[in-house]
Amino acid sequence: MAVSLNGTHHHALVHGYSHHHGEPIAPLWSGTMNSENRLYYADNLEILRLLCEDVSIAGNVRLVYIDPPYSTGGFFQTRDFQSAYSDHLRGDEYLDFMKHRLALLYDLLASDGSCFIHLDSTMVFHVKVLMDTIFGASNFKGMITRQKCKPKNYTRTTFGNISDYILFYGKSPTSIWHRSYYEWTDEKMYKEYPYIDEKTGKRHKRVPVHAPGTRNGKTGEEWRGMMPPQGKHWQYTPDKLEEMDKRGEIYWSSNGNPRRKVFFEDSKGIPVQDIWSDCIDIENQNTISTGYPTEKNPLILQRIIEACSNKGDIVLDCFAGSGTTLEVASNLERRWIGVDVSETAITTILKRFGHGTKPLGDFTAKKVEENTSLFEATDNHIAINKQHRIVRDFTLFSQPSYLPVFQTLLHQLDQHE
Ligand SMILES: C[S@@+](CC[C@H](N)C(=O)[O-])C[C@H]1O[C@@H](n2cnc3c(N)ncnc32)[C@H](O)[C@@H]1O
Repeated sequence: MAVSLNGTHHHALVHGYSHHHGEPIAPLWSGTMNSENRLYYADNLEILRLLCEDVSIAGNVRLVYIDPPYSTGGFFQTRDFQSAYSDHLRGDEYLDFMKHRLALLYDLLASDGSCFIHLDSTMVFHVKVLMDTIFGASNFKGMITRQKCKPKNYTRTTFGNISDYILFYGKSPTSIWHRSYYEWTDEKMYKEYPYIDEKTGKRHKRVPVHAPGTRNGKTGEEWRGMMPPQGKHWQYTPDKLEEMDKRGEIYWSSNGNPRRKVFFEDSKGIPVQDIWSDCIDIENQNTISTGYPTEKNPLILQRIIEACSNKGDIVLDCFAGSGTTLEVASNLERRWIGVDVSETAITTILKRFGHGTKPLGDFTAKKVEENTSLFEATDNHIAINKQHRIVRDFTLFSQPSYLPVFQTLLHQLDQHE
């Protein structure tokens, strides 16, 4: 049974009603009692304004990721030709649209929160300038270049465009940060850490013990009768170098030059840099998808959510699309708030929460059967991703008159109780 929504236990969720075409946005359905996650079917401007008045949310959002329209002038359809959304705002109109939303997102963020904005080259520089005024240029933490698709045969008179961009801002210098790492492959490990320690058998690399620049203090003094090379200083004081040598951490070359051993076992992995070429979009790979246009690779969200939030934190995506952010946040045990103004987006999210994603382009039962290791074909030929975790711990908010549109999908979620 879905939780009855007469509004009584939702006082913390809806702080006043908004009026969208005269009808208030209200909680329509909840999958569990006291669910703190929220999915809104509405224009995000009015929802962000509402959330700013909600004391349980304003100033408590740890992470915002948005993937708004890119001002391409295009119109987007799902893989089965349903209209999803239009991306028609251009120039100043687009910037005005973004400005109001970004200012509200800034207010919603916690002081140690972070904001990621996914864009392509059309507007990324304009939005960067906007963000510098709203968040402060000193809170700009970087721009990720993401490879969005495989190289293609480009017919235009320019280089093939395979990248898009993610702007990264902290609300303050104290924003949460957990460094992310790629796992070592054997090949990379052998290349980067080629040596084995004779005594301990430990794999390591050898790096200089000096660094550029002269120093007047101890690191510029003699060690073992040697001065640092000209124009350089020791990276450690001679005392410290002595201790390191005693511990077997210094390698002496045949002509008596010291180098420091850096052991593979102390490495946490390969730190992720700001070019991401391992998360090409789903629709560009032969893999599983909701069929929603511009659906992003969940790995992008996993990396961002793990880097800039902790379990239990609130993650907000007010351009939710197919719900990639919401599903990943849910799997990573974060609380979440999602908003989208497209009925197709909300429908896609509800299907995704119930069934997971489908093999790309495989809409026939026959194809699904070929994929049975990952998918289960049911009587009505809906492919259910067996690895999928049902998401029903949320409340759906919308104008009440839309309830019939979503009823069947909500009913399916109820079946999973
Ligand atoms: C690029 S798509 C997001 C795709 C999403 N990241 C995913 O992985 O599926 C942009 C979304 O923003 C939504 N959108 C555009 N304007 C909006 C508005 N004013 N309020 C709420 N959502 C909006 C569109 O309906 C569309 O679903």
